[in-house]
Amino acid sequence: MTASPALSFETATETARTARRPATGHALSVTLRRLTKAFDGGEPVIRGLDLHIPAGQFVAIVGRSGCGKSTVLRLILGLEEPTSGLVSLNGSDTRASKRIMFQEPRLLPWARVVDNVAVGLGREGSRAERRERARAALEEVGLTAKADEWPATLSGGQRQRVALARALVSRPALLALDEPLGALDALTRIDMQAMIERIRIEQGFTAILVTHDVGEAVALADRILVIEDGAVALDVDVDAPRPRRRGDPDLAALEGRILDQLLART
Ligand SMILES: Nc1ncnc2c1ncn2[C@@H]1O[C@H](COP(=O)(O)OP(=O)(O)O)[C@@H](O)[C@H]1O
Ligand SMILES: [Mg+2]
Repeated sequence: MTASPALSFETATETARTARRPATGHALSVTLRRLTKAFDGGEPVIRGLDLHIPAGQFVAIVGRSGCGKSTVLRLILGLEEPTSGLVSLNGSDTRASKRIMFQEPRLLPWARVVDNVAVGLGREGSRAERRERARAALEEVGLTAKADEWPATLSGGQRQRVALARALVSRPALLALDEPLGALDALTRIDMQAMIERIRIEQGFTAILVTHDVGEAVALADRILVIEDGAVALDVDVDAPRPRRRGDPDLAALEGRILDQLLART
């Protein structure tokens, strides 16, 4: 029933989604049921949110500033307690790690790059083993040569790659990305988008990306959610093949449709 061979814009049912993308061995699925969050007895920021993200899916969340995107991520990762409702993460190993990456790299200035990455392993294994895994993660993000440098000597884009390596070093089953590329220049951003896409395909974790850049959402995600008034206002699958070509007319049409939804509320 799709007009275009590359894209189907209809909102798929959860069963259809699950059938199309069977759970990968390692990734976690995310289920939110009637999730509500209010801060300090105020008006709820998240209102009865229902959502299922199959294991291994790459979901982008877009919405106006203050609509509750970061709050949803924090609830999913257990960094915030729901006021009511349920968050459940399911997979073969529910103790598998969950990681979050922010717009600021949050590196320790007094630790070398390799040790900043090793922080992502906590106290797992010996120090030498942690360093070895950190070097492997740095290789994934193309920063092997910077392992023994100090963070202050790196560019903004390189620091974000260190933060990505730190998030990945524990082989997370779920990676949350809260506007991770928002502070980068356009070309660096495109490079990092390609890097995130490649690593996600290699490692198969579930990814939830909050972004204000609708073009980025369309370039990267399997599915895009628009959040409005603390609930899902739009939920679309993006079935375009990868890697996606920037300027593709079907993707541009989808981007326009999502922007219309976001702008309709002014
Ligand atoms: N810890 C907190 N205490 C009180 N209010 C908060 C807290 N965190 C977020 N909020 C409020 O919840 C709303 C949603 O915030 P947030 O999830 O950060 O939005 P977004 O990431 O979409 O910009 C905002 O009005 C914000 O002020
Ligand atoms: Mg936010």
